[in-house]
Amino acid sequence: MKRIFSGAQPTGNLHLGNYLGALRNWTQLQHEYESFFCIVDLHALTQPQNPQSLITKTKELAKLYLAAGIDPTVSTIFIQSDVAEHTELTWLLNCQTRIGELERMTQFKEKGRNTERESTGVGLLDYPVLMAADILLYQTDLVPVGEDQKQHLELTRDLAQRFNRDYGETFRIPEPFIPKAGARIMSLSDPTKKMAKSDVDPSGSIGLLDDADIVTRKFKRAVTDSGTEIKFDNTRPAITNLLTIYALLTNQTNEQVENNFAGKGYGQLKSELSEACIAFLQPFQERFHNITDEHLRDILTGGARRARESASQTLDTVKERLGIVGARGI
Ligand code: TYM
Repeated sequence: MKRIFSGAQPTGNLHLGNYLGALRNWTQLQHEYESFFCIVDLHALTQPQNPQSLITKTKELAKLYLAAGIDPTVSTIFIQSDVAEHTELTWLLNCQTRIGELERMTQFKEKGRNTERESTGVGLLDYPVLMAADILLYQTDLVPVGEDQKQHLELTRDLAQRFNRDYGETFRIPEPFIPKAGARIMSLSDPTKKMAKSDVDPSGSIGLLDDADIVTRKFKRAVTDSGTEIKFDNTRPAITNLLTIYALLTNQTNEQVENNFAGKGYGQLKSELSEACIAFLQPFQERFHNITDEHLRDILTGGARRARESASQTLDTVKERLGIVGARGI
């Protein structure tokens, strides 16, 4: 069976973009692939975190995976820091990675933009190498992610190919899986920017734990384009974004959605969209609140055990190839 690996950071509030761009596809793909879904807490450390809130967010994210429909009886769900192989492989890959490659990463440039180079954390620069380690440890075939992770995936492939060339066939070369629709859900308050967990303005994103009133208010205030027609149109990013969300939440084609809104106004679009979103979020949140900590701990402990089994096999091979065999080699 082919494998998928993906993950999300336990930072900020998971939003509709995360769900439609990533988690929703994970739940569908898990039945066709052997699946590993990781809560990447070590990646979160690349930005300052409050330790207590990181623990809470990590737990919350694991519950969100389950509420979204990841089935722990078919998929492996685990916390990155429970599997030390991730950090160990990161070091080994660091030594194969060029600073220039990392400095070219768009996310590094964006996140580091507001800080002086002198005070930018090394973790932020090295972030994509840890991500490559995540993926390569599991001999992953497919990585379902949103559009913003594409460049990191390309680096992962480059690192894997370089290692295979220099040390012999070791890693499977992963392919990105970026959905045709939903790979880049835009902010409701500024449709030129993606919906982001880190956004300081919460009105731009619909949190997966937002209640019905908040959802209605956010859609009501969502920015629209000039004109009145309700159609998918790249030159009208705000309406296209709202229609994309609607189509995905209601499982309709673009054509069906356009027919539904033909002759209707923006007000109607916003109220139907709020309704569709609330109809999705309510049972989702109910599932979220019904997961007990005990049950979650069992799932994550078992997940880490399974993940470690796979990860340690790859790491052993990598170390062998590099001549890192410790006392055994004496
Ligand atoms: P993160 O936590 O930022 O986001 C989790 C997933 O959500 C997708 N996403 C979006 N999709 C559509 N529209 C949006 N506005 C939007 N915003 C975010 C992301 O593309 C992602 O798929 N580096 C990763 C976490 C990671 C990872 C990995 C992913 C670490 N190791 C290995 C895959 C494989 C990240 O920060 O995702």
